Amino acid sequence: MIILTVVGARPNFMKAAPIIAAINEHNERVSANGAGRGERSAQTIRHILVHTGQHYDEFMSGSFFSDLKLPKPDIHLGVGSGSHAAQTAKIMKKFEVVLLTEKPDVVVVVGDVNSTLACALVAAKISFDSAGSRPGIAHVEAGLRSFDRSMPEEINRILTDHVSDLLFVTEQSGLQNLQNEGISPDKIHFVGNTMIDSLLTFKEKAETSIILDKLKLHANAGNNGDGKSICRYALLTLHRPSNVDNRSAFLNILDGLEELAADWPIVFPIHPRTRQRVQEFGLQSRLGLNGAEVKPDTARPGGGFRNIILTEPLGYLDFLCLMKHAALVVTDSGGIQEETTCLGIPCVTVRESTERPITIESGTNVLAGTQKEKIRGAVRRQMAIKYCDQRAPEKWDGQAARRIIAALIRTHQERTLSQRSLFQ
Ligand code: UD1
Repeated sequence: MIILTVVGARPNFMKAAPIIAAINEHNERVSANGAGRGERSAQTIRHILVHTGQHYDEFMSGSFFSDLKLPKPDIHLGVGSGSHAAQTAKIMKKFEVVLLTEKPDVVVVVGDVNSTLACALVAAKISFDSAGSRPGIAHVEAGLRSFDRSMPEEINRILTDHVSDLLFVTEQSGLQNLQNEGISPDKIHFVGNTMIDSLLTFKEKAETSIILDKLKLHANAGNNGDGKSICRYALLTLHRPSNVDNRSAFLNILDGLEELAADWPIVFPIHPRTRQRVQEFGLQSRLGLNGAEVKPDTARPGGGFRNIILTEPLGYLDFLCLMKHAALVVTDSGGIQEETTCLGIPCVTVRESTERPITIESGTNVLAGTQKEKIRGAVRRQMAIKYCDQRAPEKWDGQAARRIIAALIRTHQERTLSQRSLFQ
């Protein structure tokens, strides 16, 4: 059985890593048990990792491979940045060649980025032979819906789900959404969340990060080594086009955060898109940054947001460490809403909708909207929380990737028995 997994952008790496680990685990088990015992499952899996190159920086891609112990990609498409159409088309053209050469049994796509949709579409329309055989398409993190079609990710989610053969769902709302869209229940598997598999695997290791020291977040750093306490700080991420690509929308969010910035230091690892916009819109002084160039720096600058600590986008372990110890997280990311839920850290989501309602039902996340008054109110309420009851959502138990691999093996065996190992 050949499984080909696609990664492209930052949030893909932590979702794919546990799947690759589960394949390795399966192969080791098969080798240890000996493949010749007549067990039908005793077949190793050949895995191919394809990186589209949608994200390419060390900050956005490279560091995640080392932090998450991901193998070097077998194939790198090197597509880089571009408009949605140009980026998607470039990935599709290059991925078609890969599929025709490798002819995998299954293509695994994760999440909702342009690479996810581009590769799923190619796999859905490819033909390996005159009978029209093609690989099965497995979508990991299927069924999430924000019901906001102005988000590029929502388009990617809907289209990817509708061309997939196996839909691996992270939360109950996903099951309901897919059912409402008429997707056949035998394609749908509620397996849990592979991003949380990664979080549980690396949660302890994140404590070895030196980021708190580096950002001077220890209240009495230098006094007596081990006795350091961590000061109360907030962690901020912003990168959604709807929040940062429009100057007044961006300013409105900054206004909503001003009170927070006056009370607690805010660590702001700045996404390349956001950094470009700060510069383009001339928001440096509004953010308390000195100078014309937006230069991530570990020192605390002066100015309006006097407590902002701007950094480059951080690696997985550094960011996880900062999330674990934050008093509050403010974000417009999807994955961070889930990670804070699992860690029991209060989160304010600066968006009008979320495709991850379980994070709100579990009690750690608040959907603030994007208006300054609402953001201010949500931040105040979340700042007052002293202890967050940690209730992990159903099946967020570190086993999602194992369930996925078991389902892929089962499907492959059933199809092999019916002499149709590839899909048509
Ligand atoms: C993409 C995903 C989004 C995800 C986000 C995480 C889509 C439609 N969007 O958005 O769902 O939450 O990744 O980061 O797929 N850039 C760099 N270095 C890089 C990559 C990008 O500097 O390694 C810059 C480029 O100028 C690029 C911009 O960042 O134009 C945006 O990158 P892009 O991949 O287009 O979208 P993201 O906003 O990162």
